[in-house]
Amino acid sequence: MPSTTKPSKKRGGVEMDYSFPEGFLWGAASSATQTEGASQEGGKAQNIWDYWYTIEPEKFFQEVGPGAASDFYHQFKADVQRMADIGMNSFRTSLSWARLIPDGRNVNPEAVQFYQSLIDELLEKGIRPIINLYHFDMPLHLQEKGGWESREVVEAYVHYAKEAFRLFGGQVKDWTTFNEPIVPVEMGYLNHYHYPCIIDMKRAVQVAFHSMLASAKAIEQYRKLGHDGKIGIILNLTPSYPRSDDEADEKAAETADLFFNRSFLDPSVLGRYPADLTALLNQHHMLPDYVEGDMETIASHTVDFLGVNYYQPRRVQAKEHPVSNPALPEHFFDPYVWPERRMNPYRGWEIYEKGLYDIALNIKDHYNNIPWYVAENGMGVSDEERFMDEDGMIHDDYRIEFLEEHLKWLHKGIGEGSNCYGFHMWTFIDNWSWLNAYKNRYGFYRVDVETQQRSLKKSGHWFKGVSKNNGF
Ligand code: NOJ
Repeated sequence: MPSTTKPSKKRGGVEMDYSFPEGFLWGAASSATQTEGASQEGGKAQNIWDYWYTIEPEKFFQEVGPGAASDFYHQFKADVQRMADIGMNSFRTSLSWARLIPDGRNVNPEAVQFYQSLIDELLEKGIRPIINLYHFDMPLHLQEKGGWESREVVEAYVHYAKEAFRLFGGQVKDWTTFNEPIVPVEMGYLNHYHYPCIIDMKRAVQVAFHSMLASAKAIEQYRKLGHDGKIGIILNLTPSYPRSDDEADEKAAETADLFFNRSFLDPSVLGRYPADLTALLNQHHMLPDYVEGDMETIASHTVDFLGVNYYQPRRVQAKEHPVSNPALPEHFFDPYVWPERRMNPYRGWEIYEKGLYDIALNIKDHYNNIPWYVAENGMGVSDEERFMDEDGMIHDDYRIEFLEEHLKWLHKGIGEGSNCYGFHMWTFIDNWSWLNAYKNRYGFYRVDVETQQRSLKKSGHWFKGVSKNNGF
C-alpha cells in the first residue's frame, strides 16, 4: 500500500485518507456497440460486429451477439438517472459510426436525435459527456474497402469526425478520436480474436499507422472548427516489466513497450514515432506506406489530453531463439509468468495496482506532464451471481478493494505531481464485451440479461460515497 502524500483531511465530517484534486472527474466509461443494443433499429447500418455475428455466432460466448447489448438505446434516460444516483459527474461513451453515417456520406437524423437527447440528458443531470469517435466498430461497408488498411477509410473517418463535431461540438467539450487503437491491430491483424481475423505483421503496422494518421486529421478538423473544447485519445497502457535486469530482458521489455505503448503514445502526445521503432520496422521491411505530408500532419496535431485505460501490466523476457523474419511482435520477446503475481481469481488477469503509479510518473517525466485521466479501470468477474444475497444485491467487495488499491497508487502519483484529473471506472452497468459477451461482469449495476433489469451492486454504493467526498 502506498504511503499517503498529503495529511488526511476531514471533508463533510468524513475522515479522508485519500482526497483528490478539486473538480476531479468521477465517472464511468462505455461504448456504443457494448451498450446500445438496437443494432438493427433507427437506420443503423451493420458494423463488423453485427456482421461477424451473423456468419459465426458460435465465436461469441453463449452465442450472444451485439444486438443483445444492454438496451441503452431505449433505456438511456433511466440509465443517466442511475449515473446521477451514484454521483457520477462524467461519462464517456462512443458514437456508433454506422448509426450516425450509415451510408458513409449522409447523416442519419434518427441517430442525431438519439445522441442529441443523450447529451441533453447528461448535461441536465450535471454529468460531463466525453465523446469518443472510434471504439472497435468499423462500418461493414468500409471494412469491405479495406478497413484501416485503406486511405479511403481514413478520409471517411475524417468526414465522420467533422460531422460529429459540427453536430455536437457546441455542447460536448471533451472529445477523443480513438479508444485503444492497439486492439484492432493486435486482435484483428496479429491474432484471430477480432474481425477481420488476419495474421500479418506488415498489414497490422499499416492499420496502426492509419489510425494515428486518422486521429491527427480529426484533431486538425476539430481545431479548424474553432470549438472551445479539448480533444484527446484513449490508450490502454501496459507498463512492460522485464524478468530481470539482464540486458537482454531489459531490451525485450523496451521492445514490448515500443510496440504496444509507444507506437501510439509518442505520435499522439509528442508528434513523432520513436526512432528505435522505426529502425526495427525498417530492418524487417515493415514500414507502412505513407504519402508526403503525413508525418507533418501527425507532428502538428497532437492531443490536448490523454485518457488511459489500465487493467494489467505486461511482463516479458528475452526471446530464447529470436527469428530473423518475424511475423508477429511476440517474436521479439516472450511473455514471462511472474512468480509473485496476484491474479484476479474471477477472470484470470494479473492485478498490479502499482502499474497505475508507474504510468502516472511516466506521463509526468516523459510526456510533458500532459493532462490525463484514467479512462478505464475495473474488474471483470465471471458468474457474479454467486455473490448475490437474498435481496438480489451483488456483494462485490473484491471490486471495492481493487478500485481502492488502484486509487491509492493514483493518489500517490498525483501527490508527486502527475497531472491526472479524473478516474473512470469500466463500467457503470454490466455490458456486452465483444467475444466474451456477458461472461465477465464489470458494472456498478448488475444487468439481468433476460429482463434487462438493473440493480445496484455494493460497489455502486461505495462509489457514491467516494464521488461525494472526492476521495475516501
Ligand atoms: C477495454 C475496452 O475499451 C472495452 O471495450 C472492454 O470491454 C474493456 N476494456 C474490458 O475488457
